[in-house]
Amino acid sequence: MSDLHDEVLRWYAAAARDLPWRRADATPWGVYVSEIMLQQTPVSRVEPVWHDWMHRWPTPADLAAESPGEAVRAWDRLGYPRRALRLHAAAVAITEQHNGVVPESFDQLLVLPGVGTYTAAAVSAFAFGIRVPVVDTNIRRVHARLVGGVAQAAASLTAAERDLAAELLPEDPSEAATWNVAVMELGALVCTARAPRCGACPVADRCAWQLAGAPAYDGPARRG
Ligand code: ADE
Repeated sequence: MSDLHDEVLRWYAAAARDLPWRRADATPWGVYVSEIMLQQTPVSRVEPVWHDWMHRWPTPADLAAESPGEAVRAWDRLGYPRRALRLHAAAVAITEQHNGVVPESFDQLLVLPGVGTYTAAAVSAFAFGIRVPVVDTNIRRVHARLVGGVAQAAASLTAAERDLAAELLPEDPSEAATWNVAVMELGALVCTARAPRCGACPVADRCAWQLAGAPAYDGPARRG
């Protein structure tokens, strides 16, 4: 394991939030539901609804047997309720086409309703430990600073960023699975968009942005 991997993974082991979909007893369906809910809603609002949802519909078949309207009602205040309809449609597809078992591969996940590149990679990596690079807003920002030496990632995802995410992934599959969520957590808790806590960062001493004096973002105005 490289020093970079070692430092980030040790930080994650000590500092990560204890979120229910990250626990060892979380099912692939639980991870799937969490990723759909987290697409546009913060962790604090997702957590209670996720618990209710998993209690009520612990498997894709349970949700598929329900009416879509009931899924929308249970979605409650998470916002963007079309996600509830897509999650219901995905439960039907998983039940009918995959014998009720959430598929493992990126390609099979990608064709499910409501699943884009990020979600397919996240479920494959977090639910099944498959060695696939995950790229979300937090991870892009960490990479932009750590390797690119700039305060923010580009406005939209580039091929170079995908290549970098693949290069940074540890060879060891078990380390790779944790690496993705560890970098995501570093971006969420320490390497934040505004007022990053570089004093708490395990890799500040090798961060290209820190080494350059943490220059302000000098591109066009944008959020995040
Ligand atoms: N852990 C796994 N996926 C996550 C996400 N999308 N947001 C926050 N924490 C996560």
